[in-house]
Amino acid sequence: MKWCVIGAGGIADRRTIPALLTDKNNELVAVMDKSPVAAKATGEKYGVPYFTDEKELLATTDADAVYISTPVFCHKSQAMLALSYGKHVFLEKPVCLTGQESRSLLDAFRAAGKQLSIGYMMKYHSLHEKAKALIAKDGIGNVNSVRAQFTCWYPDIAGAWRQQKALGGGGAIMDLGVHCLELIEDILGEPIVEAKGFFGTRTFSYEVEDGAVIILRTQSGVLGHVDCNFNIPDKASESKLELYGDKGYIICRGTLAQEDGGSLSHLYCPQGDYEAAQHRTTDEPVLYTGDPENNMYRRQLAAFAMQVASGKPDYTLAERAVRVQELVDEIYGN
Ligand SMILES: NC(=O)c1ccc[n+]([C@@H]2O[C@H](COP(=O)([O-])OP(=O)(O)OC[C@H]3O[C@@H](n4cnc5c(N)ncnc54)[C@H](O)[C@@H]3O)[C@@H](O)[C@H]2O)c1
Repeated sequence: MKWCVIGAGGIADRRTIPALLTDKNNELVAVMDKSPVAAKATGEKYGVPYFTDEKELLATTDADAVYISTPVFCHKSQAMLALSYGKHVFLEKPVCLTGQESRSLLDAFRAAGKQLSIGYMMKYHSLHEKAKALIAKDGIGNVNSVRAQFTCWYPDIAGAWRQQKALGGGGAIMDLGVHCLELIEDILGEPIVEAKGFFGTRTFSYEVEDGAVIILRTQSGVLGHVDCNFNIPDKASESKLELYGDKGYIICRGTLAQEDGGSLSHLYCPQGDYEAAQHRTTDEPVLYTGDPENNMYRRQLAAFAMQVASGKPDYTLAERAVRVQELVDEIYGN
């Protein structure tokens, strides 16, 4: 598949383009960035033509697909522009500034029959896949409770788009919380039907939230919460996903990240009788470790390319990503 890139600095250069180039089925044909410095640097680094105007990029290159990794406020217009040139689009998360924008984008791709996928790569983490497989094999019984924590240290930076509501759509929820909501739906295999949150700005002085707690309920009644913070030091970040069922637990540590790794502890401990004394003798969980060779970015692009090659667009994942934006609207009270 021939790819071009809109927004060639940041995550595109750090993760996605290198991942794309490890797959011989992919070819990078051109890049575009609004910043002439970033466009030139990325174009020269990967030996492809570079542009500072997206129309010129789309009009002069023969890419099948466009990877878009620009600030969130650009997503809708750039994805629609790529669609108008007949391109399939792999768009970075979160989909758009609001649920409504996201839904109308998805509707447009459906109507045109072009593939749209969103960059929620954490479902391809080896330990998240393991968690799903364990749950499917009754490894913790019926899941009753889920918790996710995803944080980073993100201090005030003059002009940063993520720190402005109009450009990023929000703060820690839009940037980190969305990953957790999407991952929870993926692992549980069912939609979150209700989400509410507390959020605020406490450590930094930007206008978007630097911390949030989301509480949620899934279709079958699993209850959960998500903590997402911009104000916890990276070294204190546990980056955890915890799933508790009526027969045990799965706890992933250090897995909400850009690289595979971390660990998964699995304890299967069905219990019959009520134990009034609540002795806390614990069994040793089975421990699994992540696979550093597993590149989540490569996997998500490969899945996208396979879908395009099949000739049958599949909107399951885009639909979920849009639903996440609608939940975020609910949380923010948009
Ligand atoms: N899935 C992930 O792991 C992951 C990680 C980081 C960021 N992201 C997402 O990727 C997107 C970009 O984030 P980032 O961290 O790379 O941001 P960034 O600010 O580091 O990089 C964005 C790039 O886009 C360019 N740009 C800005 N406006 C543009 C425009 N109108 N047209 C073309 N280029 C433009 C900038 O010059 C910059 O090079 C966001 O949607 C973000 O949420 C995803």
